[in-house]
Amino acid sequence: MCGIIGYLGNQDTKNILLNGLKKLEYRGYDSIGIATITASQELSITKTSGKFPTLKKAIVDHPTNNLYGIGHTRWATHGKPSKTNSHPHSDCTQKIAVVHNGIIENYQELREKLTISGHNIVSETDSECIPHIIEDYIAKGHSISQATQLTASRLEGSNAVVVSHITEDPVKLIAFKSGNAGGVVIGYSKNATFVASDITPLIEHTSQFTYLNSGEIAYISENNVEFKSLKTSDVLQKEKVILQVNNKSTQKGTYKHYMLKEIHEQPQSIVNTMKDRLFTAPAKIDLSDCNLDISRLKNIERIILIGMGSSLHAAMVGKIWIEQFTGIPVDIDNASEFRYRNPVINENTLVISVCQSGETADTLGAMEIAKAKKAYQITLTNYLETQSTRLANSYIHLRTGTEIGVASTKTFLSSMAALFILGLFLGNERKTIPNINLNQTILSLNQIPEKLNQLLSQESLYTPLAKTLSKYRNFLILGRGLNYPIGMEGALKLKELSYIHAEGYPAGELKHGPISLIDQNIPIIAIAPQDSLYPKMMTTISEIAARNGNIIVLTTEGNTEIKNFAEHIIYLPEIDELLSPFLTAVPLQLLSYYVGISKGYNVDQPRHLAKSVTVE
Ligand code: AGP
Repeated sequence: MCGIIGYLGNQDTKNILLNGLKKLEYRGYDSIGIATITASQELSITKTSGKFPTLKKAIVDHPTNNLYGIGHTRWATHGKPSKTNSHPHSDCTQKIAVVHNGIIENYQELREKLTISGHNIVSETDSECIPHIIEDYIAKGHSISQATQLTASRLEGSNAVVVSHITEDPVKLIAFKSGNAGGVVIGYSKNATFVASDITPLIEHTSQFTYLNSGEIAYISENNVEFKSLKTSDVLQKEKVILQVNNKSTQKGTYKHYMLKEIHEQPQSIVNTMKDRLFTAPAKIDLSDCNLDISRLKNIERIILIGMGSSLHAAMVGKIWIEQFTGIPVDIDNASEFRYRNPVINENTLVISVCQSGETADTLGAMEIAKAKKAYQITLTNYLETQSTRLANSYIHLRTGTEIGVASTKTFLSSMAALFILGLFLGNERKTIPNINLNQTILSLNQIPEKLNQLLSQESLYTPLAKTLSKYRNFLILGRGLNYPIGMEGALKLKELSYIHAEGYPAGELKHGPISLIDQNIPIIAIAPQDSLYPKMMTTISEIAARNGNIIVLTTEGNTEIKNFAEHIIYLPEIDELLSPFLTAVPLQLLSYYVGISKGYNVDQPRHLAKSVTVE
C-alpha cells in the first residue's frame, strides 16, 4: 500500500505536503517524494529512497513559492526502492506529475507502446506509464481533464491516482480511482482543497470529506471540485460527509511508539467496539447500526470466515465462538486461498470478512467471489467508506480509532470483540444460544477493559524478559482451543517486530514432529490459562520440561505449580474461559514490542511491511 496526497490552496504547499506525508508513512515507507508547481509555472520534483527524514533533508533546495502539488510514500511493488522508482513520476515534457497507489496490470504492454513511440521511460515502475500516456493525449489536443480520463480508461487493475500539472486550466489537480484500489478522499477547508489516500493527513485541516468510489474521477480547481464517472463522463453529485475525528488520536502523545500507544488503547477500543451494542438486565444485543438483514441471517446454513494475517487469526478465534452460539458449521479460510479455490457457497452461506483496513486486496478479491456466488456478507472493519464496506451487504464498525502502527494490536482485539458480539447476536436471533447465561456473558465482556488494565500495569516485567529472549533466533508458541490462534498471532507479532522466526502451533501437535526441535536454543511459549484445557497444556509443558526445554508460560495468577516447570511465567487475571484470548494476546504483543525495541528496530514501521496490503 502507498500513501498519496495532493494540495491546492494559498498556504505553504511544500510543508503541508511534507506534514501530510509524515502522517501517511504508515501506509508505506521505502521511498518518498513531492512535486509542486510554482507561481512561475515550474514543476519541481524532490524525491528519494528512504523515509521521511531523508526527504526532509533533500527538500531544502525545493522552491518555496508553490501554488499546489502532490506527494507520495511508497511500498514497492514494481522496481526496488530507489530515487528513480520513487514517486512522483513525470512525463517527457516535465509538465505533468503523478502519484499512484495500486497495480497497473497491463503496464508491460503500455510501456512497450510508449517506448516504441519515443517516450523516455526512466524507472522500473508501472506507475510511470501514467504521465506519459497523459502527455500523448495532450499532444493530440485533449485538455488535461480529458487526457487524464482517457488515460484512466487504459489502465487495467486497481489504481488510485493524483495528477498535477503546469496549466492555465482552472483544474489543477485530478484524482481518480479504479478497481479495488486503496482510498481516495477529498478534503475541503476554507482556503484549500486536499486529496489523500485516507483522512489521517487531513483531519488537522478539515472535517469535511468526499470519498471517491471505484470508477470515479475528481477535477479539483480553486473554487470547485467536479466529480464524473470515468466510464460515462456523467457528472456525479457526491455528498460531503462530516467526520469529527480527534486529531490527537493520530498523535503518539507521551508514548515512544504508536504501537505501544495502541496496545495501551486496547481497554478503550474494546469499550468503543461494545458501546451501545450490549445491554444487561434484560440482556440485549443491539446491532442496529450494522444494517443486518435478519430474515436472510435466519436462513443461513453455513458460515465462512475469511481474512489475512492478524485478521485471519481473529477469525480463527471467532469460529469457535460463533459455532458454539449458533450451532451453524463455521469454516475458516485464508482470503488469498478462498478466492482461487472456487468455493462451494450459495445464498444460504454467510461470509464474514475480517479486514480492519477495508482495503486488503486478497480479502476484497475473496469478497468479490462471495458476492458473485450470492453469499450474504458481513465485513468487520475499522474504516467505513472503504472497498470492503461497499462489497459487503452489511458491516460491523470496529471503532478503535486510527491504528498507525503497522502491527495490528487494538484492531486485532476489537476484531475478536466484534466477532464475539456477532456470534451472540446470531445465536440470540436464532434462539440457539446454549445454556450460557446471556446476561452473565455480557457482564463478563464488560470486565475485559479492567482486566486488560491489570495486565498493562505489569508492563515493566517485559523489558528484562525481552532482553533475555532477544538473543534467540527461533520460537515456538503453543496453545489449545481458543488460544491456538493466539499462538499464531503471537508468532506473527514476533516475526513482524523482531524479525525472529516464530511458529504458532496447536499444543497437541508437538508430539507429531516439532518435539524434535526442543533444546535450550528455542524458547517455547505455552499459553496455559487455568481453563478446561489446562490439564492438557500441563501435559505438554511437562513433556517439554522432561526434555530440558526452554519454557515461558502464560497462566492464570495464583498458579503456583507452574514454577516447577518454567523459568519465566507471565500471570494473567482470571476471566471467563470463553474470553481468555482478549488477555492472552496482550503479553505476546508487549513481548514482541520489547524484543523489537531491544534489537533497535523501528516497531512502528517494520522493514518490508505496510499497514494494509492493497496489492496481491
Ligand atoms: C498484522 O500485524 C499485520 N499488520 C497484517 O498481518 C494484517 O493483519 C493483515 O495484512 C490484514 O490486514 P486487514 O485486517 O487490514 O485486512
